[in-house]
Amino acid sequence: MNKITIAIDGFSSTGKSTVAKQLAKHLGYVYVDTGAMYRAVTFYAMQNGLINKIDFNAEALIYQLSNIEISFKFNESLGFAEVYLNDVNIENEIRTLEVSGYVSQVATISEVRHKLVEQQQKMGKDKGVVMDGRDIGTVVFPDAELKLFMTASADTRAERRYQELIERGDDVDYDAVLNNVKERDFIDSNREDSPLVKADDAIEIDNSNMTLDEQFNKILQLVKMTI
Ligand code: C5P
Repeated sequence: MNKITIAIDGFSSTGKSTVAKQLAKHLGYVYVDTGAMYRAVTFYAMQNGLINKIDFNAEALIYQLSNIEISFKFNESLGFAEVYLNDVNIENEIRTLEVSGYVSQVATISEVRHKLVEQQQKMGKDKGVVMDGRDIGTVVFPDAELKLFMTASADTRAERRYQELIERGDDVDYDAVLNNVKERDFIDSNREDSPLVKADDAIEIDNSNMTLDEQFNKILQLVKMTI
């Protein structure tokens, strides 16, 4: 069967990664979580004192970009690839609300985007890939055969992210999660380089009132119509 590129973009916590993982597993495709890559760079900046509540030393981060190597390794028991920063597994560390609080600032830096987009294009060059993020259908793979744009109300999204964090055992406040979701959407949609916009040829899916099964079946139908 013809292998295609599936680009899934959309706002924060719209369940992009959940459906992307399901699809990749079902189709035998590679799944690439590009948000994890921006989170990994952010984690590096935090570890090296380049970003905190008061200051962001973007110049130093740009200077140190060549020290940052991001890779993915498939974890059989989890059924998806975990992210590594310079060969250290940081899959858990990058999902905190603290990283979420800084990542959109880091993602405005063109040099960061350039480095990560190049790597993403290499990872998807042979097709057979499901990639999720903010600029996949517009910048990374503008020729992707299937582009989806996921939306859901801010409250639905914050509730989902809050539950995820609580299940991980993080001590978080619902309002802080809601504010983070709204703030990231604002920065992501208004940045100069590769803002989050729906590609003209993307299909919009509002999953506020859909179960995971309904969403998966709808998207699988779209895949079948495309292949
Ligand atoms: O997908 P996730 O919510 O983990 O992404 C974290 C952040 O990384 C986003 O809020 C956005 O600022 C940035 N990002 C991006 N471009 C992508 C993927 C993520 O700017 N392709």
